[in-house]
Amino acid sequence: QVLLMGKSGAGKTSMRSIIFANYIARDTRRLGATSKNFNHTFMGSAAKKTHLFSIADNVDVEHTHVRFLGLVLNLWDCGGQEAFMENYFASQRDNIFRNVEVLIYVFDVESREIERDMHYYQTCLEAILQNSPNAKIFCLIHKMDLVQDDQRDIVFGAREDELVRLSKPLECTCFKTSIWDETLYKAWSSIMYQLIPNVQELESNLARFLEIINADEGKCVLLFEKATFLVISHNERRAHKDIHRFEKISNIIKQFKLSCSKVAATFNSMEVRNSQFAAFIEMFTSNTYVMVIMSDTSIPSELTLINIRNARKHFE
Ligand code: GTP
Repeated sequence: QVLLMGKSGAGKTSMRSIIFANYIARDTRRLGATSKNFNHTFMGSAAKKTHLFSIADNVDVEHTHVRFLGLVLNLWDCGGQEAFMENYFASQRDNIFRNVEVLIYVFDVESREIERDMHYYQTCLEAILQNSPNAKIFCLIHKMDLVQDDQRDIVFGAREDELVRLSKPLECTCFKTSIWDETLYKAWSSIMYQLIPNVQELESNLARFLEIINADEGKCVLLFEKATFLVISHNERRAHKDIHRFEKISNIIKQFKLSCSKVAATFNSMEVRNSQFAAFIEMFTSNTYVMVIMSDTSIPSELTLINIRNARKHFE
């Protein structure tokens, strides 16, 4: 179970819709407060909302099943209005905080009520400590786009220090995020990575695959989860100066996939070439896409594609 919490308007439903229901950032402006003005009809089937339940009159949790690597995860988006928050901690404590594997707590960086936000966060941690002490905890300092560019690291650093301190004895990992750039993908990739079974095996297979295709310098292999296009694993031979480039690729391909679906086409594969590299994005296993970047452009595409096809069975 994945628990998504934070105060009303922090951006929980927006990020969930972008990552799991193929929303684009612009559309999230039309989202109402979770369960308050519940009017999600414009989402169509994309929202994949399977069950909305009100545990008590003023407690609302949107319970969705999201697919990730073929696993079905229970994602509980807990409406952040104050009355709901109070209730989660009182009557619904056992219901909500039991069997939590991952807690994602979203803070609005522009919030004027930091003390109150911290109070709710700490109350939430107490409930986690009692009911799911092994849960992994992630804090997202969200809406960073609203902070001036040169202030972002400073603001984030200060919040991170405070959250790490307040979280003790539990450990928390913090990310700065915004729905308007690739930071959202970076954070969610790292979080979902924690839920991948046999991740070591996956990584060693990927390293071996890279060796087999060609041990030349400057190449890289990436695995994307099929439904979300989040990067789940990568292996590269040379570090690159743009640390967000994988998340940018997630974002770009996802937008492209959406454009394809608008004209009723399905995205299967893509090849991009210039004089310096050739990049291949291919459907790989039943739950992943692979991206292979070759720096030797003289290698025929067919050869790389055969290698990709042959590698498939080792990853299923
Ligand atoms: P409740 O459902 O009431 O708990 O709120 P919520 O946390 O689900 O917030 P929601 O996703 O509904 O977002 C509230 C508003 O914040 C929407 O208008 C979003 O477009 C906006 N928003 C979400 N993420 C960001 C972000 O990264 N940057 C900016 N500038 N606005 C954002």
